[in-house]
Amino acid sequence: MTTTQPGIRHHRSEGPIDGKLLRTVCGLFVTGVTVITSGTGEQASGTTVNSFTSVSLDPSLVLFCLHKDSRMRQVVEETGAYAVNFLTGRQEQVAWAFAGRHTATLASVDHHLSATGVPVLSRAMAYLSCRLVNAFAGGDHTIFVGEVVELGVPCPDQDPLIFFRGSMGSLEEEQRGTHPIFDG
Ligand SMILES: Cc1cc2nc3c(=O)[nH]c(=O)nc-3n(C[C@H](O)[C@H](O)[C@H](O)COP(=O)(O)O)c2cc1C
Repeated sequence: MTTTQPGIRHHRSEGPIDGKLLRTVCGLFVTGVTVITSGTGEQASGTTVNSFTSVSLDPSLVLFCLHKDSRMRQVVEETGAYAVNFLTGRQEQVAWAFAGRHTATLASVDHHLSATGVPVLSRAMAYLSCRLVNAFAGGDHTIFVGEVVELGVPCPDQDPLIFFRGSMGSLEEEQRGTHPIFDG
């Protein structure tokens, strides 16, 4: 049974699920927005990703998924390291700038080098700098698993940038509870 947007209730298919429909339904799962940075020197670059998730605390592993045609794939594989930058509600333009084929250069945003030598965005809410430990094929994407070797919270007082139904926006300012990372 199929209904069209916006009234999707149930959809069952003998064949593969339509990619657009899958994207629409997955778009109902709220995520943050990150820029993955990798590469050193001339090769340093970034791409916008919301497929980040934490995996394991011991060892400290995280992952993100990258389309196999992304130019960042080779950069991450050759560098053997990457950083995950959690964007703030004020960084929607940064997110769009790193989401196109003619993506922004790192020179256009404030950044500094992390322990692995890859750049991190100096105005991100937080960042995780990772050593690449594994890459798995996942359909038309590659799943990159990294071990966190350095982390930081440059802008703890900002709201996160969130992604929902294909749009980005910031959360309303809320009273924050005490938290060891924010409050030391
Ligand atoms: C909010 C948002 C989330 C995205 N998440 C992903 C992702 O998880 N994986 C991915 O491969 N592309 C993702 N993209 C698309 C890439 O940012 C975009 O295709 C890419 O920057 C362009 O190609 P490049 O990787 O060769 O620069 C996302 C785009 C946006 C706007």
